[in-house]
Amino acid sequence: MAEKIRVMIVDDIAETREQLRKLLSFDPDVEVVAMAASGEEAVQVVSQARPDVVLMDVNLPGMDGIAATGKVVEAIPTAQVIMLSVQGETDYMRRAMMAGARDYLTKPPSADDLLDAIHRAFKLRQKMGTGPLGPTTAGATPQAAQIRREKRAKVLTIYSPKGGTGCTTLAVNLAIALQAMVGPDSSVCVVDANLQFGDVSIFMKLQPTRTLADLAPHIQDLDADLLKNILVPHTSGVQVLVAPAAPEDAEVFTEAGVEETGANHALKAILNFARYQFDYVIVDTAHAVDGILLASLDVSDLVMVVTRPVIPEIRGARLFIELLRKLDYATEKIALIINGVDNKRMGIQPEAIEKAMIPAMAQIPMDERLALRAANYGEPILPKNARTPLGQAMIDFAKKLRMHFTEEVPEAPAMNNEAQKRAGLGRLL
Ligand SMILES: Nc1ncnc2c1ncn2[C@@H]1O[C@H](COP(=O)(O)OP(=O)(O)O)[C@@H](O)[C@H]1O
Ligand SMILES: [Mg+2]
Repeated sequence: MAEKIRVMIVDDIAETREQLRKLLSFDPDVEVVAMAASGEEAVQVVSQARPDVVLMDVNLPGMDGIAATGKVVEAIPTAQVIMLSVQGETDYMRRAMMAGARDYLTKPPSADDLLDAIHRAFKLRQKMGTGPLGPTTAGATPQAAQIRREKRAKVLTIYSPKGGTGCTTLAVNLAIALQAMVGPDSSVCVVDANLQFGDVSIFMKLQPTRTLADLAPHIQDLDADLLKNILVPHTSGVQVLVAPAAPEDAEVFTEAGVEETGANHALKAILNFARYQFDYVIVDTAHAVDGILLASLDVSDLVMVVTRPVIPEIRGARLFIELLRKLDYATEKIALIINGVDNKRMGIQPEAIEKAMIPAMAQIPMDERLALRAANYGEPILPKNARTPLGQAMIDFAKKLRMHFTEEVPEAPAMNNEAQKRAGLGRLL
């Protein structure tokens, strides 16, 4: 869509305004052009803001939402007002429609309902012709500045030398658990760096129109808007950078070349950029040690190595941890995860695995039924199955991760040191 849908938010509660803005930020076609805390303020700024769609709270102190709707529509006849109210105010709603509102939603609206209503309203708006012109002053609105965040996400890479150990299952559910913990004002991103056969979109039932392959050719001019266009939102609030649709599409990453250290240039640039937009970036990976994995390791604060209690996988995990050590990765950046622990069966005891390697940061129980359902229906284990042992273990793991980073550990040494030492290996790969 060439033209963005200009939306104005009117609500007297700052938190509600912020929540709505946040929900809208998931839609690349929508731009919040103004926020007002009262009916009076809405009427004052509407001519300047020239919104296509106005989200109007019914209950406002002073001039109420219905009166404000009348005045807003008077000032900008093409503005489509969507009223928001708590349940049980239907009579109010009828009056609002009389005053010129186009639609109404119950508070708090779901992201789907809200965006559907906005797109519907915008279609009506377009039928009304060009109407008011675009913004008078091009460029950044105060809101845009507000949206830009100054933060540095913790980057967590999930890896196992073998497929089928549960990396993707863990990546997806950890992200959902962390997102619930950080709340709606912060966010978690999953990057599907299994570029050829990534299936995060299947596990999260996403229907992506854009993938990492669309981002790689643009790393030179990467900015927040571009990233936002590629991110696919999940209902949990987690944002996903989806793997390319077909294995051959991953080629654009190879074309971008590798750094001297062997790390893939494009993926490293993307991760380095993304980390300033989120609180946590979780990278799901393929199972080879290649430039893509090295890029991810370079920017990671923690590398989580996953194994199930079976000898070939344990051996693979042990070899990989040894490789990390040879490359001088700091011990506190390596975590072992034992997935599919089942005391009733014949698996190797977790204690024995830890003895062969390092203490496990988490032990995740086996639950074939739940995990299979999750994989087959694209319905993650969390939040629905939070009370099952598997769900609980994922939540506990997420809590542990948060603690791992909030405890005052001295600032982890920059991966660049390790990357330097790895230069030789990078050339071998
Ligand atoms: N804790 C678990 N208990 C039982 N099955 C699991 C568990 N974790 C993952 N699985 C199943 O194992 C299979 C592989 O999981 P997946 O996350 O795709 O692994 P990977 O990404 O390492 O290839 C999936 O069918 C998944 O449902
Ligand atoms: Mg996987």
